[in-house]
Amino acid sequence: MITETDPITKRIMIMSGKGGVGKTTVAVNLALGLVGFGKNVGLLDADITGPNIPKMLNIEDEFPCADEELLVPVRLPLGCDHGLSVMSMAFMVEKDAAVPWHGSLRTEWLRRFIVEMRWETWGPLDYLLVDLPPGTGDETLSIVEFMDVDGVIIVTTPQDVALLDSRKAVTMAKGMGIPIIGVIENMSGFVCPHCGYAIDLFGKGGGKHLCEEMNIPFLGSVPLDSRVASSGDSGIPFVIEIKSTVADSFEAIVEKIVEWGAQDIPD
Ligand SMILES: Nc1ncnc2c1ncn2[C@@H]1O[C@H](COP(=O)(O)OP(=O)(O)O)[C@@H](O)[C@H]1O
Ligand SMILES: [Mg+2]
Repeated sequence: MITETDPITKRIMIMSGKGGVGKTTVAVNLALGLVGFGKNVGLLDADITGPNIPKMLNIEDEFPCADEELLVPVRLPLGCDHGLSVMSMAFMVEKDAAVPWHGSLRTEWLRRFIVEMRWETWGPLDYLLVDLPPGTGDETLSIVEFMDVDGVIIVTTPQDVALLDSRKAVTMAKGMGIPIIGVIENMSGFVCPHCGYAIDLFGKGGGKHLCEEMNIPFLGSVPLDSRVASSGDSGIPFVIEIKSTVADSFEAIVEKIVEWGAQDIPD
């Protein structure tokens, strides 16, 4: 929903039915991909108990400032008028501290990260991506309660177990009346870096079938590549580190998101 004064044009939730499918990795790379398209982007780490976006971006030691009671996100200035603004629970607690919180406290922090934030400190955002914890629980419901979500991206791996859970995420989004931008199949095939032989380690094509079956768009697939994992660990995200087929896959997906984002914005 766009109003003249809305400082955020598109709010997108990144969801998955289960953990470990690469949702955070995808969220970080899509956010940077969108910045590469000249967009001003926000990235909210809604995984309160297991926040790892700052680690993947190597900004763990940053601290958000406050501006008249409102929190100001940590900023990665990647262009003169665009960049990435990030908020995460990881900024608020000691590095190895656990966050053993019941749903009510997690919800309260999410409310702060949405309602009591000055996301537009460095200018209005074209996109705010919200990286959710796995599943269809508290955090997802809270986000929908506190912000006007424009669309959902569902990340899955090709295995049946992941697809089973992804169907639930699709059903949940549909039930809440949130448009589904599409599904991304991550860890889709593995190309041996030595011999170039392609192995479908977790199968392939399940994401596309899911989309056909549930009548939703397929955004693309991202192969399994050990460099994606190591770049996440080193804090230098893949899309800006290495030119490769994986980076190309992300770029193609980002283009589709930009197309989707432009759909109902007047020229
Ligand atoms: N396409 C990929 N190729 C290789 N490793 C990946 C890929 N996508 C994610 N990973 C790795 O898988 C692990 C889980 O990813 P993560 O993004 O934390 O998943 P989630 O947020 O869904 O729990 C991480 O170690 C990450 O580096
Ligand atoms: Mg995650």
